[in-house]
Amino acid sequence: MSELMGFGLGLRTDHYADFRATPAPALGVDWLEVISENYMVPGGKPLAHLDAIRRDVPMVMHGVSLNIGGSDPLDLGYLRDLRALAARIEPAWVSDHLCWTGVDGRQLHDLLPLPYTEAALRHVAGRVLQVQDALGRRLLLENVSSYIGWAADETSEWQFIAELAERADCELLLDVNNVYVSAVNHGFDPRTFIDAVPAHRVRQIHLAGHEVGEQGLIDTHDQPVCEAVWALYRHTIARLGPVPTMIERDDHIPPLAELVAELKRARHEAARELTDRHAVPA
Ligand SMILES: [Fe+2]
Repeated sequence: MSELMGFGLGLRTDHYADFRATPAPALGVDWLEVISENYMVPGGKPLAHLDAIRRDVPMVMHGVSLNIGGSDPLDLGYLRDLRALAARIEPAWVSDHLCWTGVDGRQLHDLLPLPYTEAALRHVAGRVLQVQDALGRRLLLENVSSYIGWAADETSEWQFIAELAERADCELLLDVNNVYVSAVNHGFDPRTFIDAVPAHRVRQIHLAGHEVGEQGLIDTHDQPVCEAVWALYRHTIARLGPVPTMIERDDHIPPLAELVAELKRARHEAARELTDRHAVPA
């Protein structure tokens, strides 16, 4: 099990210069999450930046195109390249999303929810085992946000995730914003989801912002974490204890100082919750 703890940010192109000028830990960032696909190329500038920045800070890898829930065969070339990148930067862990992203070789560029059925469970669990074998390590899977569900659903998303993690013996990346977005869109209590997550398998937390659309919440990752998600984060930490947490911003990337300030708030919220939890009643 990894010892990596603390609070991180996603490494974005806009901040390469900041992290090359000053080591991330000196800026208040304990670790960085990199999008795996951005660096799965031989050579080039992004890889040079990555190598230089990696010397100063621990990293974790986060992928977007594993297509773990898809029906196409797993892409063995992709898995080889992913393993090679992991050998290069020695991340504390490697994650991707619990979803499907395409069919018949076509990439839909979206993280689409699975039907929560026994058949899907068996299908995905088998593929996770295959991926973990190919990578030589356990995989973290992240819950995605969704806007629609399947008529075929036989169970809840949180029961599906708990059962999958057990069968495939994988770990979890809990995106608290995604839980909140899905809860509002589907009309369930987000705390029910958080309370059902197998605590010992959650290695990382994502916090992000979303947009309020006409027909529901849209998971845009382009603005600060909202108050309702901060409240759900406190509930999460109260239940899970300290879990490495990061702010995930994918669009409208602000100056680094702004994200560091938001990360500071995450530290503060977590510390407050943990202090309260361990406080001895007078
Ligand atoms: Fe996320």
